[in-house]
Amino acid sequence: MKNLKILIEEEKLQKRIEELAEQINQDYIGKEIILICILKGSIFFTVDLAKKLKNDIKIEFMQVSSYGQETISSGKIDLKLEITGDVQGKDVIIVEDIIDTGETLDYLNQYIKQKKPSTLKICTLLDKPERRRKKIDVDYIGFTIPDKFVIGYGLDYDEYYRNLRYIGYIET
Ligand code: IMP
Ligand code: MG
Repeated sequence: MKNLKILIEEEKLQKRIEELAEQINQDYIGKEIILICILKGSIFFTVDLAKKLKNDIKIEFMQVSSYGQETISSGKIDLKLEITGDVQGKDVIIVEDIIDTGETLDYLNQYIKQKKPSTLKICTLLDKPERRRKKIDVDYIGFTIPDKFVIGYGLDYDEYYRNLRYIGYIET
């Protein structure tokens, strides 16, 4: 793609994920964790993070749609895929690729809360606070980034570029 710039190099990304995993390891000593991977964007992040955790881990998947082909959230969230395991009484972490307006995580957070986990935390690789519409308490943040549309490492533009090993953006 033309004008594709690197925002976060692969090495920096992996180092930060290592740090997040260490933090989680310390916060959850001796506990089993259920990671909820939010498809599709957070697959790469969830896999790399999970590999670095020392706890007993279960992985669940959820998918919601908010964007379509637009680059700004409509605020209308559709649930596309539901978790299959039981999270009641469990220690749960929602693993997300990016928080932009906050609409998606606000929905997911409330949705999982209804299932009465013992604890519920949020871990996002990227935080883009400039366009936030919903206040979200995020427990683990990889990188806070400026208001650019980013791609790579799970993040897509029209379903492409998820397989890039770094976080990039299109210079306009
Ligand atoms: P929110 O509901 O506005 O917080 O948006 C969250 C969702 O929108 C994320 O899970 C992503 O799938 C998508 N998204 C937000 N910003 C970007 C971006 O810069 N690149 C790719 N996808 C994004
Ligand atoms: Mg997306």
